Amino acid sequence: MFKQLSLFGEIDNNIARCFYSNIEKSGFNYQEVDIGDITFKAGQVESVHRWYRLTPSYAPSLVRFLLKDFGITKKDFVVDPFSGRGTTIIECQKHQIMSLGTELNPLLQQVGDKSLIWDTSHLNLVHTYLQEVLALLTKHQDSSLDLVIEEFRTTIPIIHNVFRWWKTNVLKYLIICREVMKEKKYSPIYHYLWLAINKASLDCANIHRNHPTITFDDNHQRNINVYFEIQNNLNIICNDLTNLKEQEICFSKNNSVILGDSTCDFKSKINRPIDFVITSPPYPNRYSYVHQTRPQLYFMELLQNAQQATEIDLQAIGGTWGRATSILQNELMRVPDEIKPYLCYYNELRDQNILMCNYATKYFIDLWRHIKILKQVVSHNFRGVYIVGNSRLSNVEIFTEVILSKIFEHEGFKVEKIILFRKRGGKKHLYETAVCIKS
Ligand SMILES: C[S@@+](CC[C@H](N)C(=O)[O-])C[C@H]1O[C@@H](n2cnc3c(N)ncnc32)[C@H](O)[C@@H]1O
Repeated sequence: MFKQLSLFGEIDNNIARCFYSNIEKSGFNYQEVDIGDITFKAGQVESVHRWYRLTPSYAPSLVRFLLKDFGITKKDFVVDPFSGRGTTIIECQKHQIMSLGTELNPLLQQVGDKSLIWDTSHLNLVHTYLQEVLALLTKHQDSSLDLVIEEFRTTIPIIHNVFRWWKTNVLKYLIICREVMKEKKYSPIYHYLWLAINKASLDCANIHRNHPTITFDDNHQRNINVYFEIQNNLNIICNDLTNLKEQEICFSKNNSVILGDSTCDFKSKINRPIDFVITSPPYPNRYSYVHQTRPQLYFMELLQNAQQATEIDLQAIGGTWGRATSILQNELMRVPDEIKPYLCYYNELRDQNILMCNYATKYFIDLWRHIKILKQVVSHNFRGVYIVGNSRLSNVEIFTEVILSKIFEHEGFKVEKIILFRKRGGKKHLYETAVCIKS
């Protein structure tokens, strides 16, 4: 049956063979679905979703496909425990479905939660804000950054290499826009100003914007216009808000994204049984969400020091960087007996690279902790979808979908099927799957 698979035609043959034999051995049901582009790019042209760009997010169309496939109705309660920029919850809100997101990264939590406030009643204030900002930017054209910092009684972001991230003038203008946003008279539109400035702070940084990960672009000659970027972002937000349907706006106060760690304090945040989970936890690779969002975490004043960044990074599932990585490097992590039989990569990876072995092992232990808590808060008819990707660490294949499915089964869930969606990131050996479970 697997030989017929068309999507795998695009994927490296060896990996495809391994994938087939792994799935066959595991005995899980398998399905192939092609619903087009399910990457973040598809979300960049959709209302509300386009207010923030998170490259590892999935497309709103994937959520719509799952809402339909599962037959989710307005009576159901949907949760996304790894909500990222909030794609699932935004899409649920558009369908007037009660939902809740939890997210560990304070920047993404704020982005998700603020993207759910749909209120058109004070949008006239946007014009006043832009006028005030323009006058101040003109007034301070020749002022030094220090003078602006003093006048607004603020500080320079404490990110390492701050002037490599932003040219001095760019930072000066961004700070003026951020400080004006805090004035009391703008509180009714604070969330929209915040989203517009947050997005602009990265778009105005000296980085390559076409890469999935952030890298410096030290020698670029781009003309960066802070006012234009913020004005443009606000126009998009106002435009999207005014085009929302009446019932979408009325429903909008029901959903939220809260700050939380889905591997430990998840249960205390859920106040009714979960009917559906639609989510995508991080993948077992080296991508660190804290690392990738750090310019904005610092610029939007959500981090006070580097230690906080390390703490969030260590709590997070998946990739780490800096000090968090050094901690993982120290010694081989002990694997709990309960999940040891499922970690088929373990012996080979341990012999190749202890850090990578710890990475993968921490990843599955964290997901296991999440699954155990999830079990305590699901309804009788619960169903869930976990979108995950495979990875290759030190040349050892990590078949995330099968390992995760086995851990779900171990904790008493039934695995309905594994869906293969796409290859990802342009690389031949990477693909994405959905692990579909029920209680
Ligand atoms: C693949 S992204 C989710 C993207 C999301 N589906 C979207 O479309 O925006 C995974 C998210 O899980 C978050 N995360 C990692 N560890 C977490 C934890 N222990 N608790 C809650 N969220 C966590 C990361 O910060 C990241 O935003």
